[in-house]
Amino acid sequence: MAATFVAILRPVTVLIAPSILASDFGRLAEQVQEAERAGADVIHIDVMDGRFVPNITIGPLIVEACRRATDLPLDVHLMIVEPERHVEAFAVAGADWLTVHAEASTHLHRTLQLIRNGGAKAGLALNPLTPLAVVRGALPELDLTLLTSVNPGFGGQSFIPATLERLGVVREWRDQLNPECRIEVDGGINIDTAGAAVAAGAELLVAGSSVFNGRSGIAQNIGDLRRAATGG
Ligand code: DX5
Ligand code: ZN
Repeated sequence: MAATFVAILRPVTVLIAPSILASDFGRLAEQVQEAERAGADVIHIDVMDGRFVPNITIGPLIVEACRRATDLPLDVHLMIVEPERHVEAFAVAGADWLTVHAEASTHLHRTLQLIRNGGAKAGLALNPLTPLAVVRGALPELDLTLLTSVNPGFGGQSFIPATLERLGVVREWRDQLNPECRIEVDGGINIDTAGAAVAAGAELLVAGSSVFNGRSGIAQNIGDLRRAATGG
């Protein structure tokens, strides 16, 4: 319902960012290419260090492997402490967008500048209960704001409904202060939640389980998600 509602109110451009966290890593290149053929706009890569979040996933080598597999933008979500120590390595590996968590970087302003100076787009991510005020202050330095709609660390979790209100606040600030900044939502996005997230203000939808382990094949899953998101 919500998706239909938003489609009537305002035409929206929604980008779909499959998260490789839910893919078959034994066939990573194939899975990325399948997502690209199916119309994915961006490839989302979740980097976890076992400290900022409980889980450990991947490093720059896998970003490099994705870079070889596709020309789509690589959207690298750093769930690591002191991300400033690794920003350069991920940029060199081929990240187009580098997103750091506000909770993980003490000198955030400097970290965001470091990302841009390294030639990547700078993103800022917030956990579900982190006060939003930091986004308002950081907006001039941002190309992307990511609101996590689950507690980050694992795929396959349920969307936290309070994220919708947070998306609305960020959308308003973004429209006023930096219209170029994209708004991304990450966690629990599927055909039941995508429409509401877009109606609330999200433009870039990260989806892991619903794309790679969804009801159908990757192509059908991405198509279903896009329809649910745009009311098409
Ligand atoms: C969660 C990650 C997400 C994750 C989303 O910590 O940041 O990108 O892959 O997975 P789903 O879509 O399964 O919730
Ligand atoms: Zn992510």
